[in-house]
Amino acid sequence: MMLWQTAISIALSVVVRSDQRETCSLAIGPMAVMPSFQRQGVASQLVRVIIERAEAAGESFLAVAGHPEFYTRFGFQPSLDFGVQHCFEGMPDDVFFLQSLQKTFPGHFANGRLVYSSVFGRQDRFA
Ligand SMILES: CC(C)(COP(=O)(O)OP(=O)(O)OC[C@H]1O[C@@H](n2cnc3c(N)ncnc32)[C@H](O)[C@@H]1OP(=O)(O)O)[C@@H](O)C(=O)NCCC(=O)NCCS
Repeated sequence: MMLWQTAISIALSVVVRSDQRETCSLAIGPMAVMPSFQRQGVASQLVRVIIERAEAAGESFLAVAGHPEFYTRFGFQPSLDFGVQHCFEGMPDDVFFLQSLQKTFPGHFANGRLVYSSVFGRQDRFA
């Protein structure tokens, strides 16, 4: 069974804005594996491929919102560790993660804001 028949995930544009700079890159979108194929390493393989391809393409970071136990395995760190908060009203901060892919991605942002593509809906937490 090929990977794309069992799992789905999308990569969408995302921006980290701060007092000093604006950095555009990619966010891993909703990920799901067909129930009968779960717990066989499919999602893990997909995440590793996304990281590898994004890094090779010169993307500066990857963002994701998801289960902490799952994504921290692949080098994702809480976005708050980078000084970055998401902009979705009512969503917790501790499910948002970032992974730096390039040395040029700063280790810390001043008032960093993670802004997803508008297809994810309103992001007026700090408006
Ligand atoms: C989460 C999901 C994508 C994982 O896919 P998968 O192919 O089964 O994942 P893998 O086999 O690569 O990895 C399984 C690991 O993920 C962990 N995991 C799976 N679901 C989890 C969850 N809801 N919370 C925390 N960890 C989870 C498991 O503990 C497992 O770890 P183990 O192998 O040490 O036991 C899949 O369970 C799914 O589609 N769930 C429904 C949709 C969903 O919740 N998507 C949001 C993803 S953040």
